[in-house]
Amino acid sequence: MSIQDDLQATVGALVQKGKGILAADESQPTIAKRFKAIGVESSDENRRAYRTLLLTTPGVGEFLSGVILFEETLLQKADEGTLLPVVAQRQGIVPGVKVDKGTVPLSGAPGDLVTQGLDGLSERLKIYKSQGARFAKWREVYPITDRNPTALGIEVNAETLARYAAVCQEQGIVPIVEPEVLLDGDHSLQRCAEATESVLHAVFHALHRHRVMLEYMLLKPSMVLPGKEHARKAAPEEVARETVKVLRRTVPAAVPSINFLSGGQTAEQATANLNAMNALFPQPPWELSFSYARALQQPVLDVWRGRPENVAAAQRVFHFRAALTGAARRGQYRPEMERTA
Ligand code: 13P
Repeated sequence: MSIQDDLQATVGALVQKGKGILAADESQPTIAKRFKAIGVESSDENRRAYRTLLLTTPGVGEFLSGVILFEETLLQKADEGTLLPVVAQRQGIVPGVKVDKGTVPLSGAPGDLVTQGLDGLSERLKIYKSQGARFAKWREVYPITDRNPTALGIEVNAETLARYAAVCQEQGIVPIVEPEVLLDGDHSLQRCAEATESVLHAVFHALHRHRVMLEYMLLKPSMVLPGKEHARKAAPEEVARETVKVLRRTVPAAVPSINFLSGGQTAEQATANLNAMNALFPQPPWELSFSYARALQQPVLDVWRGRPENVAAAQRVFHFRAALTGAARRGQYRPEMERTA
């Protein structure tokens, strides 16, 4: 199989009607924070047990086409000894892996950040591929303040994402390109729209310069939202219209799918906003899907709390959340469905 056939097969498996991607790739500090909030220690065994819970949830492959794992999970096993990437595959869920190494301040651009991990990336990808990963994820973050993101921040982050994506495709790994404009702050929805448009514009220019094949990548952006501290909340229809407007201006139709992150929205908000996009725009140039971590997992963590006796109930919650998000992917979610839990 040529590399392009390989990439196409992975894209075909990831982009399916009614399905999206679970992000379960929290780095060690992030998973420690999530576990601490429910009184659970972040030990190897607890992370293994929790991610096993997610991947062994009966029937969840009906709504999930892919899962992004943290590198340690590639080597961990379910209780009966099957490697977790194999458990995912048996559910029809393609395993992928987060390959970035987190952010550092960007020198020369106070307030902006840049993501590390390009050194040695192609060697690491070869190893991850041999362990079952078929796609990868890399996240750049953009804080909004009066001065950020700066022009330099936008340029350097775009260049970094493009370099990562090019290396992935060379190795036959489908890159998920994740530019996340952060929700923190009191900025307006309009300010977020402007920042997101500038960010995506630069990202696609850089992808072009680095000869990234747009057909064989997925975009994982943030939605266009008012800042968390902004006085006025935005209704799902407004979020949908503004988000799709920015995407239409910046994302070429060659990109097969846009899989949003949830970015600190509640599960209900993230579901309602995705639903509004699919309901208002039934035939967009790309698929409008999800790649949520918190909006799929927070309700599960709240029920699990690290206790083996809660696993079955937590799996029911996960299946329910995945089903509702799958409905939003088709534009068929209604808030009343939340009460059928
Ligand atoms: P959230 O959905 O919690 O924003 O996480 C998505 C993700 O993968 C962040 O990199």
